[in-house]
Amino acid sequence: MLEVRPVTINNWKELAALKVREDQKHFVATNLYSIAESQFGEYIPGEGRWDMMPFGIYDGEKPVGFLMISYNYAAARFQGFILRLMVDEKFQGKGYGKFGMNWMLERYRSDGRVKAIALSYDPNNAAARTLYAKFGFHETGEMVDGEALALLSLR
Ligand SMILES: CC(C)(COP(=O)(O)OP(=O)(O)OC[C@H]1O[C@@H](n2cnc3c(N)ncnc32)[C@H](O)[C@@H]1OP(=O)(O)O)[C@@H](O)C(=O)NCCC(=O)NCCS
Repeated sequence: MLEVRPVTINNWKELAALKVREDQKHFVATNLYSIAESQFGEYIPGEGRWDMMPFGIYDGEKPVGFLMISYNYAAARFQGFILRLMVDEKFQGKGYGKFGMNWMLERYRSDGRVKAIALSYDPNNAAARTLYAKFGFHETGEMVDGEALALLSLR
């Protein structure tokens, strides 16, 4: 059974051990970095604090991927930002990324305070661009830290 589970004292090491292909490393932070970052969130002047929540993607008891969502209900333009999505190199192309996306969108949709969500990706990341476009994200034309910003309106 596919499942998304929070990062805890029991599973953070197995999730930190997941990795992408060598040629994909510049597309995504390591899970260890993301787990560290999630302890603090980020304060953006003029926007306020973004809270971050990291999760593992599991196929039964097997960890296969990682994702991290963030929230800032006070933000004007989008109140959710999908910060990370990765599937371990051994398990890519089997639908786990799509499962993670569905789970994140479901979670955001069920929260009435989230009107729109965003994410960003390296313009050369064809897999990510195709995946996000399938879920309705559209590029705004803006670049954030060298990545293309894409938005999805939820309500
Ligand atoms: C992007 C990523 C999370 C996709 O996860 P995945 O489990 O391999 O993807 P899925 O099997 O669920 O495929 C979902 C869709 O993504 C797209 N996709 C996946 N791999 C692709 C590839 N190599 N080229 C083009 N499209 C691809 C397809 O549209 C696919 O849908 P389809 O099966 O209907 O054709 C995974 O490739 C990954 O971890 N990449 C490295 C890290 C990364 O780039 N993360 C995103 C940072 S913004």
